[in-house]
Order: sequence, then structure tokens, then C-alpha cells
Amino acid sequence: MPTKSKPAGKLISFEGSEGSGKSTQIARLAEHVQKIGREVLATREPGGTEIGEQIRNIIVHNSKGDEMCPETELLLFTAARAQLVREVIAPALKRGAIVLSDRFLDSSTVYQGIARNLAPGPVNEINRFAVGNVMPDLTIVIDVPTDVSLARIRQRASDLPDRMERENIAFYTKVREGYLLLAKQWPERVVVFDGTQTPEALDKKIWNEVQKYVG
Ligand code: TMP
Repeated sequence: MPTKSKPAGKLISFEGSEGSGKSTQIARLAEHVQKIGREVLATREPGGTEIGEQIRNIIVHNSKGDEMCPETELLLFTAARAQLVREVIAPALKRGAIVLSDRFLDSSTVYQGIARNLAPGPVNEINRFAVGNVMPDLTIVIDVPTDVSLARIRQRASDLPDRMERENIAFYTKVREGYLLLAKQWPERVVVFDGTQTPEALDKKIWNEVQKYVG
């Protein structure tokens, strides 16, 4: 009797500025994927592993973090990513899971490369070294105008904003433009969605797109 082959694992990354609504959409998408009977694993960067969460603390919450140079920032983010890929993502893909990652290598390309002005060559090489051969099958960019993103950050920051959240409008404008540029460079992988529509409408559109990959 022929054995039913295991469905292929897929990596779907979510990208966008802070306040773009990524986490809400990841939670909704995870429910859709579960309902069709596929294993789903949601993770986040930086973090997603014990080592990664420690690195996240150094980058985001370190009180002396303002002194961190962009090169260190890049290496820390990519170190957390290297761990996440080998400890969590690659084994899950091998099992046939649908992995939803809140940020992946494009965050380094955009935040450290484009917004912090690090040279694209080294950023790409370090990124590639960190992920090995694990690349997203699909990257969903949730795009919101910079002022909307900043307003959402301020609204949700009940405590003091963290180091990344204290960046100014020029920084977040570069982040936004960086993602739109990536979508132009990699149209077959990166799809941009308008993050100003209602969460319900956005959820529908994202699920329509993702069904092409997880069917
Ligand atoms: P988030 O949990 O709101 O996504 O915050 C993570 C912060 O880290 C956010 O400001 C984006 C930033 N970041 C980078 O600058 N480079 C990276 O490679 C990653 C994964 C995140």
C-alpha cells in the first residue's frame, strides 16, 4: 500500500515596523493553519530559545544599550537567529510544520543595514551564515505609515519605551522604505499588506496568500 508522504514544512516570516500588528496576525494565522490539521509553530526574533531570549535582553533592555554600536547589534541579532534556526526552526520544518516567525533575516537587512547604515555586503553575508540554508518560503510585510507606527508604539508603551522604540521618525521612515525596497527586490518571496485595514480584513487577505503555501 502506498504510504502517504509527509507534507513539506514551510517557513513564513512576518516583518514590519513596531506597531504594524504582526503579533495579532500571527496568532490569527496560527489558528487557520491548525484548523486545516497542520502542525504550526510560532516563534519570535530576537528570542525563541533560552539563549536567544538572553540575547534579546542584552539588545533591547540593556540600560547601557544606547552605547551599543551597530556592528555589535547586527552580530547579536544574527547570533540569536543562528540558535533559533538550529534549535527550533530546522527541526520543525523537518517534521513538516508550518513555522511562523515574528521577524527573520530581513529585519537585520532593514534595521541594521538600511536604517543603521551598515554596508549591505557584510550584512547579507553574516545573515546568510546565520541562517544556513533555511530561508523563508514566504515573507509577509505589514506596512503602516510611519506616523501610525509611532503612535501605536507610544500608545502601547505603558513603561518607558525600550531602546529600539526610542528611535525617531527618520529611523522608522528608513525602516518602512527598506521593507518596501526588499519587496521590490524579492517579489517572489516578499508580499506587502496594508496594515491600516481592520485586523479582520487583513487576516482574510493573509490567509488567502498563505493557503498557496500550506495546502
Ligand atoms: P519587536 O519584538 O517589537 O519586534 O522588537 C524587536 C526589535 O528589534 C525591533 O525594534 C526590531 C529590532 N530588530 C532589529 O533591529 N534587527 C533584527 O535582526 C531583529 C530580529 C529585530
